[in-house]
Amino acid sequence: MRQSVDFNRVLEQNRRFHDEVEAEVYDNRMGIINDAFTTQQMIAELERVLGRPLPSGGTVVDVGAGTGNVAVKLAMSGRFDRIIAADISTGMLAQAQENARNVGCSIETVQTDMVRLPFEDGTIDLVVGCAVLHHLPDPVSFMAEVRRVLKPGGSCIFIGEPSRWGLAIIETLKLPLVAANRVYKRVSGRPGIQWEHDNIDVHTFSVGDVMRMTAGYENVRLVPEGFLETVLDQSFFTAIRYMQGSVPGVTPAVTVIRRACRVLDQTLLNRVVPRNLRTDMKFSAAKPKSTEAGSVD
Ligand SMILES: C[S@@+](CC[C@H](N)C(=O)[O-])C[C@H]1O[C@@H](n2cnc3c(N)ncnc32)[C@H](O)[C@@H]1O
Repeated sequence: MRQSVDFNRVLEQNRRFHDEVEAEVYDNRMGIINDAFTTQQMIAELERVLGRPLPSGGTVVDVGAGTGNVAVKLAMSGRFDRIIAADISTGMLAQAQENARNVGCSIETVQTDMVRLPFEDGTIDLVVGCAVLHHLPDPVSFMAEVRRVLKPGGSCIFIGEPSRWGLAIIETLKLPLVAANRVYKRVSGRPGIQWEHDNIDVHTFSVGDVMRMTAGYENVRLVPEGFLETVLDQSFFTAIRYMQGSVPGVTPAVTVIRRACRVLDQTLLNRVVPRNLRTDMKFSAAKPKSTEAGSVD
């Protein structure tokens, strides 16, 4: 996790990038689908990280909800009274609303930079976030803010955060593609693939970083998962991912390959790849019921 970043620049670049570039293409590029199968997979993943069934009823906030990858699936599961999708990008939130409508569900949306969450103290039952902490200027302060809004005993679950060593493997595998992209840009004069996400993808996380972020929580569960799907997706498949929206047939093909890799990760690689090399730093934690912070699993 980086210690010093240009705070306002990170917020502004994230808002602009997700509004102006990602909102339109994100779901296609990431192969995001909201159906019964992916809903069941999402619930299973969240429960694996939480270490028990998700609570039912109450209010859940999806922080950095984007186009509603998590929020819409939670709405489809029918388990919660209220689902709030929070994000800095109104463009992504508009897409989330449309995605919810398309599957006949309803979610609420709120635009916020998450420096301060727009909720009263102790009012939220569950906070979930997927691929969001690495975009924030100060994840440690943000996690304290999450703790503020959670009810005592309420949990937060974070998935999709890049691990420090997992990303190092990906960056190494990407080197030939980065070189080819540079040559392509120079020769063709075209923009090529946008690799440089300097003020957008800001952090990667080690085990120590997760411990720092969850200070003051209890029942911290660190569940690093994933290898092949992310490594292939973010290195060799990156060029393909940028074509997904425009070339017919690419999205379903990439989705099938990703699902196959995920199965291999889940059945074998999550057990044999060393924890530090797994690509996703997933974790959950609970706000203490009393004011004393407690144990770490
Ligand atoms: C990689 S996307 C993940 C979206 C979604 N959670 C998913 O699983 O597909 C990251 C999201 O975080 C949002 N984001 C980035 N910085 C933010 C900030 N400071 N406050 C609120 N949202 C932010 C972006 O707008 C974007 O929608």
